[in-house]
Amino acid sequence: MFDDKKVLFSGMQATGNLTLGNYLGALKNWVDMCNDYMTFFCVVDQHSITIRQEPAEFRKRARNLLTLYIAAGLDPEKNCIYYQSHVLEHAELAWILNCYTYVGELQRMTQFKDKAAKHADNINAGLLTYPTLMAADILLYQADLVPVGVDQKQHIELTRNLAERFNAIYGETFTMPDIWLGKKGRKIMSLQDPERKMSKSDENPNASIYLMDDPDTVRRKFKRAVTDSIGEVRYSEEQPGISNLIDIYCSCTGKSTEECESEFRGLGYGVFKEAVGESVVSVLQPLHERFDELSKDKAYIDKIIVENADKARYYSEKTMRKVRKKIGFPERPKI
Ligand code: TYM
Repeated sequence: MFDDKKVLFSGMQATGNLTLGNYLGALKNWVDMCNDYMTFFCVVDQHSITIRQEPAEFRKRARNLLTLYIAAGLDPEKNCIYYQSHVLEHAELAWILNCYTYVGELQRMTQFKDKAAKHADNINAGLLTYPTLMAADILLYQADLVPVGVDQKQHIELTRNLAERFNAIYGETFTMPDIWLGKKGRKIMSLQDPERKMSKSDENPNASIYLMDDPDTVRRKFKRAVTDSIGEVRYSEEQPGISNLIDIYCSCTGKSTEECESEFRGLGYGVFKEAVGESVVSVLQPLHERFDELSKDKAYIDKIIVENADKARYYSEKTMRKVRKKIGFPERPKI
């Protein structure tokens, strides 16, 4: 809570090609919810260096992600859209929270275990302490609500534990954040293996719809999506591929599962897959157009970056003054 307004915070990494999972699980919900809250949407570039990045490419991706937030419909005059690395308080609070986090808690995180297995040659300390930086992102802005996909649930639970631990020692300092999960898009699965999450790092490009895929690529990937031999468009555990396509279709069209099932009853998978592909194309096309338009306006994006970083610094500094004082750091001289 800031200025009597409930705060919503979320962020995304600027690594790899963003997928439809990132959009339906997070970005789309941010746009739907943003009018009811004071919002902070961060490009979490400091998280990204837990894995090696090529500097020029990394800088470009981060800017593209910031532009994409706006292209998706987040008005930067009303929503604070900024780079994590522009607000030094994120790293400061992350360090402090590290001192209140047990190594065992971090080692238990499934994302750490997955990433450590994938990057066995670079299990750096940042990979382990990644969740304390994420907790700092959220707690710095006194966030009430954090809309994410289901894969981030464990990190939000750790954030809540840290807030509770800190508040218990020093008295009420941080707002206790709640996770917010969408009904349909909370876990979009791979189109090639519907038991696995759709992921930017999947080696099979047909498994994921990338947000920048052109319409024909999107249609082709849905045509090739793995289904089953049951032959009915029905939401059920025995049909993970079809259930995933139903989730995607419903998220993109706003229809309910029942509406979708009855619309495609008796029509066969070919017709259904084509309709899912079209529903995604109609969401991505305007996003591409707006992104291309905004990308040309360098001065506008530069201005947003400066103004919103100032705003983020103002609010994060408010929290940090409180935190430093409670811990017992000496008062900072005015510079
Ligand atoms: P990241 O960058 O991996 O993903 C960004 C958002 O997309 C969601 N998501 C999905 N949702 C549904 N289905 C999928 N297949 C799918 N894949 C990704 C993620 O759940 C996430 O909401 N650690 C975070 C970034 C972060 C953050 C934060 C988020 C850093 N600090 C503070 C919230 C608050 C991450 O790596 O997300």
